[in-house]
Amino acid sequence: MGTKQQIHFIGGGQMSEAIIRAILQNETFSAKQISVADINPSRLDYLKGKYEIKTVSSHHQQKELSHATLIVLGVRPHDDLASVGELIKEHGQDEAAVLSLIAGVNIEKLASYLQVDIEGRPIIRVIPNTLTDTGLGYSGVATNQAAEVETVKEEVDKFLKGFGKVQYLEESLIDVFTGFGVAGPNYIYYFIESFVDAGVLAGLPREQAWKVALENMVGAVEMLRLSGKHPRQLLDINNSPAGVGMHALHELNGSDFSAGLQRSVLAAVKRTTELGGEKS
Ligand SMILES: NC(=O)c1ccc[n+]([C@@H]2O[C@H](COP(=O)([O-])OP(=O)(O)OC[C@H]3O[C@@H](n4cnc5c(N)ncnc54)[C@H](OP(=O)(O)O)[C@@H]3O)[C@@H](O)[C@H]2O)c1
Repeated sequence: MGTKQQIHFIGGGQMSEAIIRAILQNETFSAKQISVADINPSRLDYLKGKYEIKTVSSHHQQKELSHATLIVLGVRPHDDLASVGELIKEHGQDEAAVLSLIAGVNIEKLASYLQVDIEGRPIIRVIPNTLTDTGLGYSGVATNQAAEVETVKEEVDKFLKGFGKVQYLEESLIDVFTGFGVAGPNYIYYFIESFVDAGVLAGLPREQAWKVALENMVGAVEMLRLSGKHPRQLLDINNSPAGVGMHALHELNGSDFSAGLQRSVLAAVKRTTELGGEKS
């Protein structure tokens, strides 16, 4: 992808902003390569002032649409997607890829809003990673075959890697990916909160418990990465006969910890599917 790459966002809300912030910060694209259209003028003023990108009212985005090589849909599922599709059909280049951040709207539905056959233009459906400021976290991505052409793939991949890591998936796995992967940080936040509380319950000042919990979290992940070992192997190393760790593990084994976590992931996946169904 050369400097001719122009990215046009339709909808400049929270998710679009998080992506713009990361891709500018990582120098994946320059401010000149990015434009945003929104229906909210104060939102546009804010984005222009903060990121020095081109902003336009959604009624005056014809030029930006016609120059865009990648069009990003950052509106919400209940917004007027038919009008957005109509605008792209009218003013966008036929070969420009359309990348949707919209939860629950599948590629088939996107193609119908864009008024093309399912392979009528490159369409990319993304469940964006929300850890955009960290460079960590995976976005889940499904595409039609038209988006598998090498030149399109390259530009889309560069865009996506500008705000984290990427896993390409069959579209049928997008809901699973959302409930497990994209909701993933929530499980970790909850675990850390519970773990810190455990330290406080046992008598540590909260501030110290907090520091220890964060360091343990990062350190344990690093141990798994560095050693390449299964968690059970590291548990076996840490748990001496009749020791402290084994007593703790015995209690956890008898709890609902594992099944409770698994049920909550299944509930998140189920809710993702329900929400998608409500939109179609
Ligand atoms: N935030 C997340 O963590 C997250 C995670 C995964 C996926 N997503 C997906 O990302 C998309 C955006 O979410 P968000 O949280 O960024 O929502 P948001 O902050 O509400 O942003 C949507 C923006 O689009 C504007 N808009 C609505 N209709 C428009 C139109 N026809 N043309 C141009 N702009 C229009 C809205 O303006 P008004 O407010 O004035 O209507 C608003 O500024 C959603 O589809 C969501 O499913 C978000």
